[in-house]
Amino acid sequence: MHSIKDVLQPIEQARGLPSHLYVDDTATAEERERVFFSTWSAITHGKNAPDPGSVMPVDFLGMPLLVVRNKQGEIKVFENVCRHRGMRLVDAPGKLKGPITCPYHAWAYDLDGALKATPHVGGANIHHHDNIDPSEMGLNEVRSHVWRDVVFVNINENAEPFEVVHQELLARWQEFDQPLYHGGDDSGFTLKLNSNWKLAIDNYCESYHLPFVHPDLNTYSRLEDHYNIVGNSGFAGQGTLVYNPSLSDDGRSFPNFSGLDQKWDQAAEYIALFPNVLLGVHRDHAFSIVIEPNGHGETVEHIEIYYPTEDCLTADYADMRAKNAELWHVVFEEDIGVVEGMYEGRKAKRYDGGKFSPVMEEPTYKFHYWIAEKMLASEAAE
Ligand code: FES
Ligand SMILES: [Fe+2]
Repeated sequence: MHSIKDVLQPIEQARGLPSHLYVDDTATAEERERVFFSTWSAITHGKNAPDPGSVMPVDFLGMPLLVVRNKQGEIKVFENVCRHRGMRLVDAPGKLKGPITCPYHAWAYDLDGALKATPHVGGANIHHHDNIDPSEMGLNEVRSHVWRDVVFVNINENAEPFEVVHQELLARWQEFDQPLYHGGDDSGFTLKLNSNWKLAIDNYCESYHLPFVHPDLNTYSRLEDHYNIVGNSGFAGQGTLVYNPSLSDDGRSFPNFSGLDQKWDQAAEYIALFPNVLLGVHRDHAFSIVIEPNGHGETVEHIEIYYPTEDCLTADYADMRAKNAELWHVVFEEDIGVVEGMYEGRKAKRYDGGKFSPVMEEPTYKFHYWIAEKMLASEAAE
């Protein structure tokens, strides 16, 4: 039997991650701690808590979290639990006019998590008690960071700051560090896959499958027009040199992000950010996909598409936004069959992690490598 260590070889000798990491409950529970909770993992998009007062509960691998947009417009993430007797605070997304009020005994917290009211806690009509110090009973805040509208959390609080962990990608895409305008209702969709989340990332990282899985896409964005992207620190993927959108019949096109290098006239890049975000950038739009694992055998992809200017959100562009979303919908749907098929394959007893093409699959190999490092590093630390 091969082991996780076999992943940590040069690509020519390496095997993929052992199958139990895809189909075993114990391994999935370990992965939650060692991978997801020990680094910056994505939980949702900021657009889901759009305004001051917006609240969005998120079940993150069984952990109840609450995403809140405070009065200053910043995103905060808290444990979605009342500090009194542990009632879940918010059970549906919405926009609050007042504080976050617990449905049990009505303790109330402001949008920054401070406990502001404890009605009748000292007896009828006595709203305080010496034994209960509100300054010590605020909501438990979870370390969070928002980048490209993706909300990241570091549950174990042991990661370096997001800007440090991902400095290489931040530098690579610095040009795209500008406001993003979500395209509206038809610019977001979800796909549910009967597969392990890691296989969705594996597939996204490589363009090798293009001619076989995306024959239409391959007619205008061919295999040979792609290049590999392999970061040293937690990002990998592929780029194309022939991005040339045609979303209208009358010559209209979206405005571009401002000040981009000439390279982006034709190029576009698709990067998986470790562990669970898929990103795409083009001169006229960007998307991000938050990958939500639901046990080892179900994965939900939350896809959101963004544009460079507010203008792009007007009715003038409605047909083009819809068409763009539909194009991506088709491409990501085409991938489902192989991502699900690889999951089924991992139930075969003798499959040994396979081999990577040293030419075509270095980005996918890297993703396996980073998972293996995390699984082994935490083991050593125990
Ligand atoms: S549990 Fe929330 S107020 Fe009692
Ligand atoms: Fe694909």
